Amino acid sequence: MNITAIYPGTFDPITKGHTDLVQRAARLFDHVIVAVAAHTAKTPAFSLDERVAMAQTALAGVERVEVCGFDSLLVDFVRQRNAQVILRGLRAVSDFEYEFQLAGMNRKLAPGVETLFLMPAEQYSYISSSLVREVARLGGDVGEFVHEYVREALRERMR
Ligand code: COA
Repeated sequence: MNITAIYPGTFDPITKGHTDLVQRAARLFDHVIVAVAAHTAKTPAFSLDERVAMAQTALAGVERVEVCGFDSLLVDFVRQRNAQVILRGLRAVSDFEYEFQLAGMNRKLAPGVETLFLMPAEQYSYISSSLVREVARLGGDVGEFVHEYVREALRERMR
Protein backbone atom coordinates (compact mmCIF):
# COMPACT_ATOMS: atom_id res chain seq x y z
CA MET A 1 0.00 0.00 0.00
CA ASN A 2 1.27 3.43 -0.93
CA ILE A 3 1.14 5.77 2.05
CA THR A 4 0.99 9.51 1.57
CA ALA A 5 1.52 11.72 4.61
CA ILE A 6 0.52 15.37 4.73
CA TYR A 7 2.61 17.66 6.94
CA PRO A 8 0.54 20.83 7.40
CA GLY A 9 1.63 24.10 8.93
CA THR A 10 1.91 27.84 8.56
CA PHE A 11 5.67 27.68 7.87
CA ASP A 12 6.14 31.42 8.48
CA PRO A 13 8.95 30.72 7.73
CA ILE A 14 10.02 27.08 7.45
CA THR A 15 12.84 26.30 9.90
CA LYS A 16 15.48 23.59 10.20
CA GLY A 17 13.21 22.00 12.80
CA HIS A 18 10.52 21.56 10.14
CA THR A 19 12.97 20.28 7.51
CA ASP A 20 14.45 17.83 10.02
CA LEU A 21 10.97 16.42 10.54
CA VAL A 22 10.28 16.18 6.81
CA GLN A 23 13.56 14.30 6.25
CA ARG A 24 12.58 11.81 8.94
CA ALA A 25 9.12 11.40 7.38
CA ALA A 26 10.59 10.92 3.89
CA ARG A 27 12.31 7.77 5.20
CA LEU A 28 9.01 6.35 6.45
CA PHE A 29 6.38 7.21 3.86
CA ASP A 30 6.10 6.77 0.10
CA HIS A 31 5.15 10.38 -0.43
CA VAL A 32 5.26 13.39 1.91
CA ILE A 33 3.34 16.54 1.06
CA VAL A 34 4.36 19.65 2.98
CA ALA A 35 1.06 21.54 3.00
CA VAL A 36 1.41 25.28 3.54
CA ALA A 37 -1.84 26.64 4.92
CA ALA A 38 -3.43 29.83 3.62
CA HIS A 39 -5.88 29.80 6.54
CA THR A 40 -4.50 29.48 10.03
CA ALA A 41 -5.17 31.14 13.35
CA LYS A 42 -2.13 33.34 12.70
CA THR A 43 -1.54 36.41 10.55
CA PRO A 44 1.60 35.38 8.68
CA ALA A 45 4.47 37.79 7.99
CA PHE A 46 5.02 36.16 4.57
CA SER A 47 2.41 35.60 1.84
CA LEU A 48 1.33 32.08 0.93
CA ASP A 49 3.44 32.17 -2.25
CA GLU A 50 6.50 33.33 -0.29
CA ARG A 51 6.03 30.62 2.35
CA VAL A 52 5.67 27.96 -0.36
CA ALA A 53 8.80 29.24 -2.18
CA MET A 54 10.84 29.17 1.05
CA ALA A 55 9.69 25.62 1.85
CA GLN A 56 10.41 24.44 -1.71
CA THR A 57 13.91 25.88 -1.60
CA ALA A 58 14.68 24.56 1.88
CA LEU A 59 13.55 21.07 0.84
CA ALA A 60 14.96 20.96 -2.70
CA GLY A 61 16.55 17.60 -3.36
CA VAL A 62 14.74 15.70 -0.61
CA GLU A 63 13.25 12.72 -2.40
CA ARG A 64 9.55 11.83 -2.22
CA VAL A 65 8.73 15.30 -0.86
CA GLU A 66 6.41 17.82 -2.47
CA VAL A 67 5.49 21.30 -1.22
CA CYS A 68 2.02 22.61 -1.89
CA GLY A 69 -0.16 25.50 -0.72
CA PHE A 70 -3.78 24.86 0.24
CA ASP A 71 -6.66 27.15 1.11
CA SER A 72 -9.32 24.71 2.27
CA LEU A 73 -10.06 22.73 5.38
CA LEU A 74 -7.07 20.47 6.06
CA VAL A 75 -9.12 17.26 5.96
CA ASP A 76 -10.56 18.23 2.56
CA PHE A 77 -7.03 18.70 1.23
CA VAL A 78 -6.06 15.31 2.72
CA ARG A 79 -8.97 13.63 0.93
CA GLN A 80 -8.28 15.48 -2.30
CA ARG A 81 -4.70 14.16 -2.31
CA ASN A 82 -5.79 10.63 -1.29
CA ALA A 83 -3.53 10.81 1.76
CA GLN A 84 -3.93 8.55 4.78
CA VAL A 85 -1.86 10.37 7.39
CA ILE A 86 -1.59 13.86 8.90
CA LEU A 87 1.88 14.36 10.29
CA ARG A 88 2.71 16.78 13.10
CA GLY A 89 5.81 17.53 15.12
CA LEU A 90 5.95 17.38 18.90
CA ARG A 91 8.81 19.38 20.34
CA ALA A 92 7.88 19.50 24.01
CA VAL A 93 5.03 18.69 26.36
CA SER A 94 3.73 22.23 25.81
CA ASP A 95 2.86 21.33 22.19
CA PHE A 96 0.63 18.48 23.31
CA GLU A 97 -2.51 20.35 24.41
CA TYR A 98 -2.96 22.13 21.06
CA GLU A 99 -2.00 19.06 19.04
CA PHE A 100 -4.47 16.95 21.01
CA GLN A 101 -7.29 19.35 20.07
CA LEU A 102 -6.23 19.56 16.43
CA ALA A 103 -5.94 15.78 16.06
CA GLY A 104 -9.27 15.26 17.83
CA MET A 105 -11.08 17.74 15.59
CA ASN A 106 -9.52 16.31 12.43
CA ARG A 107 -10.47 12.78 13.52
CA LYS A 108 -14.06 13.93 14.07
CA LEU A 109 -14.15 15.53 10.60
CA ALA A 110 -12.36 12.64 8.85
CA PRO A 111 -12.44 9.41 10.93
CA GLY A 112 -10.37 7.47 8.38
CA VAL A 113 -7.37 9.78 8.59
CA GLU A 114 -4.77 9.15 11.29
CA THR A 115 -2.62 11.86 12.88
CA LEU A 116 0.93 10.70 13.60
CA PHE A 117 3.60 12.58 15.55
CA LEU A 118 7.35 12.73 15.09
CA MET A 119 9.96 14.46 17.25
CA PRO A 120 12.51 16.75 15.60
CA ALA A 121 16.18 16.40 16.56
CA GLU A 122 16.76 17.80 20.04
CA GLN A 123 18.87 20.74 18.85
CA TYR A 124 15.73 22.03 17.13
CA SER A 125 13.31 21.42 19.98
CA TYR A 126 13.35 25.06 21.10
CA ILE A 127 13.00 26.64 17.63
CA SER A 128 9.75 28.21 16.50
CA SER A 129 8.96 30.37 13.49
CA SER A 130 7.90 33.32 15.64
CA LEU A 131 11.11 33.23 17.70
CA VAL A 132 13.17 33.07 14.51
CA ARG A 133 11.27 36.11 13.16
CA GLU A 134 11.86 37.99 16.41
CA VAL A 135 15.59 37.25 16.45
CA ALA A 136 15.83 38.34 12.79
CA ARG A 137 13.82 41.51 13.44
CA LEU A 138 16.20 42.52 16.23
CA GLY A 139 19.25 41.94 14.06
CA GLY A 140 20.30 38.52 15.37
CA ASP A 141 21.78 35.85 13.12
CA VAL A 142 19.31 33.08 12.35
CA GLY A 143 21.63 31.13 10.06
CA GLU A 144 21.76 28.23 12.50
CA PHE A 145 17.99 27.82 12.45
CA VAL A 146 16.92 28.37 8.84
CA HIS A 147 18.08 27.66 5.29
CA GLU A 148 20.25 30.37 3.68
CA TYR A 149 17.42 31.38 1.31
CA VAL A 150 15.08 31.87 4.27
CA ARG A 151 17.73 33.83 6.15
CA GLU A 152 18.00 36.21 3.19
CA ALA A 153 14.22 36.48 2.85
CA LEU A 154 14.00 37.39 6.55
CA ARG A 155 16.78 39.94 6.19
CA GLU A 156 14.91 41.55 3.26
CA ARG A 157 11.57 41.52 5.07
CA MET A 158 12.90 42.95 8.33
CA ARG A 159 14.75 45.76 6.57
N1 COA B 1 10.48 22.64 14.28
C1 COA B 1 10.42 23.94 14.56
N2 COA B 1 9.27 24.56 14.83
C2 COA B 1 8.16 23.83 14.82
C3 COA B 1 8.17 22.47 14.55
C4 COA B 1 9.40 21.87 14.27
N3 COA B 1 9.53 20.57 13.98
N4 COA B 1 6.91 22.01 14.63
C5 COA B 1 6.15 23.06 14.94
N5 COA B 1 6.90 24.16 15.06
C6 COA B 1 6.47 25.49 15.45
C7 COA B 1 6.18 26.37 14.29
O1 COA B 1 7.34 27.07 13.93
C8 COA B 1 5.12 27.27 14.85
O2 COA B 1 5.71 28.30 15.58
P1 COA B 1 5.02 29.72 15.76
O3 COA B 1 3.76 29.49 16.52
O4 COA B 1 6.04 30.45 16.51
O5 COA B 1 4.77 30.26 14.38
C9 COA B 1 4.36 26.37 15.82
O6 COA B 1 5.25 25.38 16.16
C10 COA B 1 3.19 25.66 15.24
O7 COA B 1 3.15 25.90 13.91
P2 COA B 1 2.88 24.91 12.76
O8 COA B 1 3.48 23.58 12.99
O9 COA B 1 3.20 25.63 11.50
O10 COA B 1 1.39 24.67 12.90
P3 COA B 1 0.30 25.71 12.94
O11 COA B 1 -0.28 25.63 14.29
O12 COA B 1 0.72 27.04 12.46
O13 COA B 1 -0.62 25.04 11.83
C11 COA B 1 -2.59 24.24 10.82
C12 COA B 1 -1.93 24.87 12.03
C13 COA B 1 -2.11 24.85 9.52
C14 COA B 1 -2.29 22.76 10.80
C15 COA B 1 -4.08 24.47 11.00
O14 COA B 1 -4.31 25.85 11.19
C16 COA B 1 -4.89 24.01 9.79
O15 COA B 1 -5.10 22.83 9.62
N6 COA B 1 -5.36 24.98 8.96
C17 COA B 1 -6.14 24.69 7.78
C18 COA B 1 -7.62 25.03 8.04
C19 COA B 1 -8.25 23.98 8.91
O16 COA B 1 -8.48 22.85 8.52
N7 COA B 1 -8.59 24.36 10.16
C20 COA B 1 -9.20 23.47 11.11
C21 COA B 1 -8.18 22.60 11.80
S1 COA B 1 -8.98 21.44 12.89
